[in-house]
Amino acid sequence: MFSTAARRLTTAGVRSVGARCLSTSAKTASRSMNKNALPFLFAGGLTAFGLTQYNQSQSAQCDTAAGDDSKAVENKFSTYWPRNILILFGPPGAGKGTHGPKIEDLLGIPQLSTGDMLRAAVAAQTEVGKKAQAIMKAGGLVSDDIVVGIIRDRIKEDDCKFGFILDGFPRTLEQTKALDKMLAEEGACVTKVIELQVPDEVLEERICGRWIHKKSGRSYHVKFAPPKSMKTDSNGKPVAESMLDDETGEPLMQRPDDTATALVKRLAGYHGETVPILKHYEPKGVVKTVNANQKMDGVWTEVLASLSRK
Ligand code: AP5
Repeated sequence: MFSTAARRLTTAGVRSVGARCLSTSAKTASRSMNKNALPFLFAGGLTAFGLTQYNQSQSAQCDTAAGDDSKAVENKFSTYWPRNILILFGPPGAGKGTHGPKIEDLLGIPQLSTGDMLRAAVAAQTEVGKKAQAIMKAGGLVSDDIVVGIIRDRIKEDDCKFGFILDGFPRTLEQTKALDKMLAEEGACVTKVIELQVPDEVLEERICGRWIHKKSGRSYHVKFAPPKSMKTDSNGKPVAESMLDDETGEPLMQRPDDTATALVKRLAGYHGETVPILKHYEPKGVVKTVNANQKMDGVWTEVLASLSRK
């Protein structure tokens, strides 16, 4: 079908940098198909089967009718079906950016990364970007009102009507309360929190070895997921010029906050301000824990199990 990379293609402007935060305006045909397919996946084979049969035996006039039926099913689901609102939770380097796109592919709902949105704002030097730049580089947290505002606007977009995956939000109890409130106003709530558990000591290697393709958000690692082009010097260190994206051949880059020094602050923020959010959601029975300190395939198997209703 359609690759994550294809669906991550972006339009011009601020969002061209934020791969995990595509807006409706940036939707590709494939994403749109993915979204439109969703009601059928859930609504069931019956409707889809019926439409298929109908389409096979009727003339072009019937295509319009099928289109109408399909719109009706979509409307029904966007009105009555609970939205899938997932939080991908975990420390820096836990694998949120690694597994989020796969959940996107599976469920057909967008991954909204506040980190990517803020990096896009920094790159575009918007007012928000200018405020966030130094804080992010040092590994601190951007103010609650900025990120809450970003998310409030984003989840109103059309591609979020069946749900969305939050990555990097909420990060404080204040943000959590704001999220619950904005969802309650629409009769929705968080349906699952997937906590990726990894001990702090393995995160430095993951973070300091990460390289990313800025335009698509594709993530590489010098040891765990090297690009095909990678060459190393006599000390075994990657040669920067050889770090190229597998798909486009464009240069990869390292994030300014992916340093051992900034990681100390990021982890302190995670344990001090973000982990208490789990206590908030635990009584609601929505928290699922995944052992993210294992090979990526093993993590994905556990993520899949945590997504299942059974
Ligand atoms: P953000 O972009 O959200 O960064 P983060 O939470 O620190 O998370 P990362 O993107 O670093 O980690 P990840 O879990 O996605 O790891 P990945 O999958 O790439 O936030 C950045 C900054 O923005 C914040 O510090 C803050 O300043 C600001 N901000 C954002 N949201 C905010 C908010 N709500 N409020 C206030 N401020 C906010 O994996 C990492 C590496 O490990 C990769 O190279 C990958 O290949 C590798 N890897 C992954 N899984 C495995 C595995 N199982 N085995 C081996 N290697 C693996």
